[in-house]
Parts: sequence; C-alpha cells; structure tokens
Amino acid sequence: MKDASRAKRKADLVRDSASHPDAMIELRGVIKRFSNAAGVFTVLKGVDLTIKRGEFVSVVGKSGSGKSTLLNMITGIDHPTEGQVVVNANDIYTGVSESQRSKWRGKNLGIVFQFFQLLPMLTLLENVMLPMDYVNLYDFDERPKRALELLKLVGLEAFANKLPVLVSTGQQQLAAIARAMACDPPLLVADEPTGNLDTRSADTIIQLFEQFVAQGKTVVMVTHDPSLTSRTHRNIILSDGELINEAISKALPKLRHRHMLEFTRLAQTRVYQAGEVILAKGTEVDCFYIVKQGALEQYQAGEFFAETELLRGEPSAREVRAGKMPVEIVTLPKSDFVRVLNESPITAEAIEQIIQRRLAVQQATDAFSK
Ligand SMILES: Nc1ncnc2c1ncn2[C@@H]1O[C@H](COP(=O)(O)OP(=O)(O)O)[C@@H](O)[C@H]1O
Ligand SMILES: [Mg+2]
Repeated sequence: MKDASRAKRKADLVRDSASHPDAMIELRGVIKRFSNAAGVFTVLKGVDLTIKRGEFVSVVGKSGSGKSTLLNMITGIDHPTEGQVVVNANDIYTGVSESQRSKWRGKNLGIVFQFFQLLPMLTLLENVMLPMDYVNLYDFDERPKRALELLKLVGLEAFANKLPVLVSTGQQQLAAIARAMACDPPLLVADEPTGNLDTRSADTIIQLFEQFVAQGKTVVMVTHDPSLTSRTHRNIILSDGELINEAISKALPKLRHRHMLEFTRLAQTRVYQAGEVILAKGTEVDCFYIVKQGALEQYQAGEFFAETELLRGEPSAREVRAGKMPVEIVTLPKSDFVRVLNESPITAEAIEQIIQRRLAVQQATDAFSK
C-alpha cells in the first residue's frame, strides 16, 4: 500500500512538474523527521506545495508547527527526509553536494531572518558586498557601487560606512534585506523578518517586499502578524506539520487551526465541467460546499454554498451549476461540519451572518422579480 502510494506520487511528480511551468517553488511529499534521545519526531508530514513566480506568500502557524523547517527545505539550509524540492527549476537535493547547494543559494535566493546576522565588525556597505564576493558576481570594482545602490534603495546610504551596532534594529534589518538582494535573486525567503521590530519599521519592510514583488520577484515570508498577512497575495497555514487546505482557510478564516486541519483531512475535492450541475434543486444536502478554484454563476473561489439548507436540514433551495469554466469544489461531510460548528461559536456566528445576508438579498431579488 505504502509502495503503491509512493509510486503514485512519483507519477504525480512527472505530471505536476509539467503542469506548473510558472512555478518558482515546488514541494512534493516533503517529510522531515528529527531524531533525538526521546525518539523520532516528524516535523513536516508530507507537504505538497506550489508557489508561482511573482507570488507574495505569507506563512503562518503556531510556534513549533514547522514554519522555519519548511523554509529550510526551500532554502537548502536543511534537507528533507523524504520528498522532492524544486526551486527555480532546480531539484536542489538530488545529486547536489552541500557546497554546490551553498553556491546555488547565493545566486538564486535572498534569505532574511528575524535576527539579522550582520557581521558586527564589518560596515553596512561591507556586509552588503559579502554575497557578491562569495559567489563572485559583478566586477570587483563594481561591487561597492552596487552595494551603495542597494543601501540607497532601503534608505541607508547615509549609514553605509557605519558598523551595525551604530544603527537601530530596524535599520539593521533593512541592511540585511539589502544584503539578501545583493545578487539580485529571483526569490526572497524571510523568516519572521519583522518579529523584532516596531510597526513602522515593519511597514517599511513590507513596502520593500511589495516593491520586489512588483518587479516580478517571488517573496515567501513567515509572520505572526495578521496585519501583514492581509498584504500578501496568498496565505499558507501550517498546523502540526501539515498544510491547511487553502480553500478551507479562505472560506472559514475564523476556525481554529486544529479544526482547519481536521477539515483538511476530511475534505474531498471534486471537479465539475462547465455548466455541470453541482447541486440539484430540491435534493437533500449532505455536505458543505466550498469553491476552491474557478467560479460558479453566484459564487467565487473561497466562497461556500448550501450552508443554509445544511444547517436547517432543508432540501436544496436552488440549482447550483459550474459557470463557463470547470470548477474545483471542496466538500466536507455534514456531520463533521455540524460538530465543528458546535465547537467553534465564532465560526458559527460568522456563517449565521452570511446566511442572514444571503436571505436578505434573496428576499430583495424575489420582491423585485414579482
Ligand atoms: N534540528 C532540530 N532537531 C530536533 N528538533 C527540531 C529541530 N529543528 C526543529 N525541531 C522541532 O521541530 C518543530 C518545528 O520547529 P520549527 O520549524 O522551528 O517551528 P516554527 O518555526 O513553526 O516555530 C519544533 O517542535 C522543534 O522543536
Ligand atoms: Mg520559526
């Protein structure tokens, strides 16, 4: 059974890599285990993830959920126990030595940590020049000029010849970002880059990231701050080493992560062709429906439907069909859905509000068409 699923995963791989020509990052079946005296501990439990070029992605999750470990798989700082990681069209763990990976990293990605790790005895300018020296990129004479331009970009040209200790923590982080961008990498990976900063410095950093994204670069950022996740294109949630189904987190954002995880495991994905009937009028509603990809006539991706009938035990009030394009629908079994809503009053209330709003719209439409 295990071998069969592995064989299937292999088959998926070939197809998937072909089907994501615009992917910057692809993780397939990534498992990471650590062993220590207490035994074996699985931190990532089979992560499948595709991030496209030019996406700005935030990653959230409770402390210990595996966020830093996930980033380390992408940067090549650590290696997966099982699975495959492709970054910028390179399979970074297959037949690649540690030192080759290190050089590859220097040219292909910028990395920013919460604690900036500037070298204390070098000036900001010298710190920014380091990666260019390491991968031997740009002419020797050009490097100080380029480093100064990068410091200018982050507003630190006046501090170029200062040691890190003489500038604020926010400015040190900006210098670390300038250093991360020294070799003009297409991908920037940041692990809680604003975790140690005041809101104003944090805002400056997100603006910089937005600027990189506008230039077509890909940015992946772990953060705890909900005001930052709202500024990214896409938010990924890790819970206990597993990725949450993004349709579920989008549709039910107030759910606790452990409930999202439970739903992720119970979710079934179905594809409907253009115009195909998803739910016939007058039939019994036995699951909760979320639009994962594509759009229906009435509902967009991230929206749900049939909740009113489901919660009130009534037959489907209207027919629901796929729109002009195929759609992907995620369904959750009724019994599990009702049970979790009973455990999550905040979500139950949010859904009740949507029900009331939809009923009001429906009544207004009915009154209008009479
Ligand atoms: N090198 C390691 N050896 C053993 N356990 C580790 C190691 N790195 C991380 N872990 C464990 O893996 C879990 C996830 O860690 P981490 O990825 O740092 O979580 P997060 O960044 O989400 O807080 C934690 O329980 C942590 O203790
Ligand atoms: Mg971490």
